[in-house]
Amino acid sequence: MRAFARAKLSAWGLDTDHGWECQQVLSELVTNAFDVTGELLPEDHLALDELAMILIQLRISAKHLIVEVRDSGVGRPQIPDTELNDEGGRGLRLATMLAGAWGWYPVTTPKPGKVVWASWALDRKAAS
Ligand SMILES: Nc1ncnc2c1ncn2[C@@H]1O[C@H](COP(=O)(O)OP(=O)(O)O)[C@@H](O)[C@H]1O
Ligand SMILES: [Mg+2]
Repeated sequence: MRAFARAKLSAWGLDTDHGWECQQVLSELVTNAFDVTGELLPEDHLALDELAMILIQLRISAKHLIVEVRDSGVGRPQIPDTELNDEGGRGLRLATMLAGAWGWYPVTTPKPGKVVWASWALDRKAAS
């Protein structure tokens, strides 16, 4: 998944422009998405539409690089109200430190869940 981000950013000529931060944050967001969608056991035999869903999107606009991680798990992303050296709660703190901005919003389709996003302003002159 880091390789996916690396390849995409590189294809867009952005590997040095927030590339490292983007990979770190994406990794944390995807880890959280896996945490809340649970694991599938071999004996589960779920139909396709019963499966949990995680969707990763990397987008670039004229001024921003945006990563979005959509999951069909329950709960809401929340930085725990505990000390920094406590176990857990590091992923979203890392997003706060490394991303220009991050946030989330609930979604209802194709499955109920949420999109957690992080963005970086691109400090670039108009493409030459
Ligand atoms: N995609 C998500 N869906 C639901 N809850 C989330 C999601 N991401 C984060 N959370 C909640 O926010 C908390 C903090 O996330 P994080 O900072 O990554 O710490 P950690 O994953 O170590 O608990 C998680 O424990 C979880 O309760
Ligand atoms: Mg986490």
